[in-house]
Amino acid sequence: MIEGPDGPILLVGCGKMGHSMLSGWTDRGMDPNRVHIVEPNEDVASLLSKKGVKVFNQNCEIPSQFVPTIIIFAVKPQVMELVVPNYSHFKSESTVFLSIAAGKKIAFFEQHLGDDAAIVRAMPNTPAAVQRGITVACGNTQVSNPHKQQCLSLLRAVGEAEWIEDEDLIDAVTAISGGGPAYVFLLTEAMTKAGVDSGLPQGLSARLARATVSGAGELMRQSDEHPSTLRENVTSPGGTTEEALRVLMSDDAWQTLMDRAIAAATARSRKLA
Ligand SMILES: NC(=O)c1ccc[n+]([C@@H]2O[C@H](COP(=O)([O-])OP(=O)(O)OC[C@H]3O[C@@H](n4cnc5c(N)ncnc54)[C@H](OP(=O)(O)O)[C@@H]3O)[C@@H](O)[C@H]2O)c1
Repeated sequence: MIEGPDGPILLVGCGKMGHSMLSGWTDRGMDPNRVHIVEPNEDVASLLSKKGVKVFNQNCEIPSQFVPTIIIFAVKPQVMELVVPNYSHFKSESTVFLSIAAGKKIAFFEQHLGDDAAIVRAMPNTPAAVQRGITVACGNTQVSNPHKQQCLSLLRAVGEAEWIEDEDLIDAVTAISGGGPAYVFLLTEAMTKAGVDSGLPQGLSARLARATVSGAGELMRQSDEHPSTLRENVTSPGGTTEEALRVLMSDDAWQTLMDRAIAAATARSRKLA
């Protein structure tokens, strides 16, 4: 069930992330008639039409009487500059613009839409594709409480969503949850390789690593325990896990590496924005 204002939604770009959101909304019972999509890719557009949503190949095809309550920009950051100005005429007190583009600040949208437009910037992550993402959003001063609730409720259709007041934190958010899935996949790759190096057949090692990482993730999701307690629960004194953790938790190991990685990603995000 999607809560909040139920006016028409205009989704600009329906690639990987746009499509994840659309699936989340319709799976939660949203009437597809509510969703209008601008998507130039003909193959994607024809598949979408079969789902009952209204699809336009270009923004100029949108009927002049159409008034969306929310416009979601889900195109690549590099085309945003060309795309956003085409939607400035939709600006009104009741309409909010929501961008999920990495590295595009609220100021960028204010430059193209005016600083009297209500603008929300959000950073989702790829587990949104299985409705298990986490998104962090923030807005400019024009964003009202109903705007905020509408954005959060649409974002929560693909996982969890958090609101922050300080846009500067988005760079660290990008480093933690935006890129985070890649670090977890790398962990799985590293465990697989270590298993092979220890004599396991490649396929078995890959299956063990994949099931362990996803199973531990699911256990953590379902448990109320702190991650450190879950870790301690696996660690018998004098046992094998303790030996591995002694290596991973030494001064120059995991935490140091993670601190460096997150600092590098945060700095990169600041530079790109
Ligand atoms: N995927 C992620 O993990 C992720 C995570 C966080 C944030 N994001 C953000 O989400 C946004 C979308 O990413 P994505 O991975 O979903 O990209 P994507 O799969 O390339 O989807 C973008 C879609 O927009 C379409 N498009 C291009 N020009 C357009 C226009 N003028 N009007 C309307 N649609 C247009 C593209 O069509 P064509 O294929 O024909 O060009 C494509 O179908 C990006 O800004 C990205 O930074 C993505």
